Amino acid sequence: MGYVRYRPEDGSSPTATGWDGWAADYARLGEASPVYALSKELLATMVDEVVPPPAPAREAWVLDFHCGAGDDLARFLARGWHAAGCDGSTGMLQAAAARSATDLRLGRAELWQGAAEEIQADSFGGRRFDLVFSTTGGFAYLDDDAFVAVHRVLAEMLTPGGAMVIAHLTPFCAAESLYHLLRLSPRLVAKRWAGRVPIEVRGQPMEMRLRSSNEVRRLLAGVVRIERMAPLLVWTPPFQSGFRPTAPVAVVLAALERMTVHADRLAAIADQVVCVARPL
Ligand SMILES: C[S@@+](CC[C@H](N)C(=O)[O-])C[C@H]1O[C@@H](n2cnc3c(N)ncnc32)[C@H](O)[C@@H]1O
Repeated sequence: MGYVRYRPEDGSSPTATGWDGWAADYARLGEASPVYALSKELLATMVDEVVPPPAPAREAWVLDFHCGAGDDLARFLARGWHAAGCDGSTGMLQAAAARSATDLRLGRAELWQGAAEEIQADSFGGRRFDLVFSTTGGFAYLDDDAFVAVHRVLAEMLTPGGAMVIAHLTPFCAAESLYHLLRLSPRLVAKRWAGRVPIEVRGQPMEMRLRSSNEVRRLLAGVVRIERMAPLLVWTPPFQSGFRPTAPVAVVLAALERMTVHADRLAAIADQVVCVARPL
């Protein structure tokens, strides 16, 4: 069916299961989980280093691919970007719309609904983007062929000089492995290492495909020019692991993460690998 503009006033209703069913709680993750909030803060800093926020008089657009409940979208808007978000889930888009209602009304933000597998160069009304962004696993729900095809199309959507900053979940996350081992749950460690992780999102079975930085490089050879593969969350088990640090521990971990955010070799053991790429 392709991508269509999502407008909350059109009144489409979310279902009770899957991403829709998780959306309301997901929208509160930034406040509920200091680890989720930390990963978003670190990634925003990385993005600003690759493509600085636009000067006040300049209209520059970012696409948040798989925007979920729209927390990154709101962060981009607050930093002066015009922002388009897309996602497959009505519930997630509803949450994103509620968060950025004013910017949507002013035309500084747009929401689009569609399946990643159906993206085409003229999805989003033919708009071109200075930055294409994605994080927290949206790409993990695509098989390898779709992963490559989507990157190819997203690269075509970039303006000259534009960049992609896309974070991918990896199979080997040292901090998460250690966390599960200390809790005597080796099965959970092995599950992630396998690279294909069956999960259930609010009653709906799904499979995640986790990719190492080498795997991402292999798949994207000849598709985009990779500039950097950076680590995101090296010392901190991600929120999905169930890790809830006390306040002092969270402060120490945040300091460690900020210190090592430029140590690209650590991408081999991080929760996500952030691929910074440009068109060929
Ligand atoms: C874990 S959430 C991440 C959301 C957001 N990027 C964040 O950082 O919180 C994954 C999102 O990908 C969307 N998604 C998963 N597979 C999709 C597909 N094939 N097409 C469109 N959206 C998809 C889901 O609806 C969900 O909102």
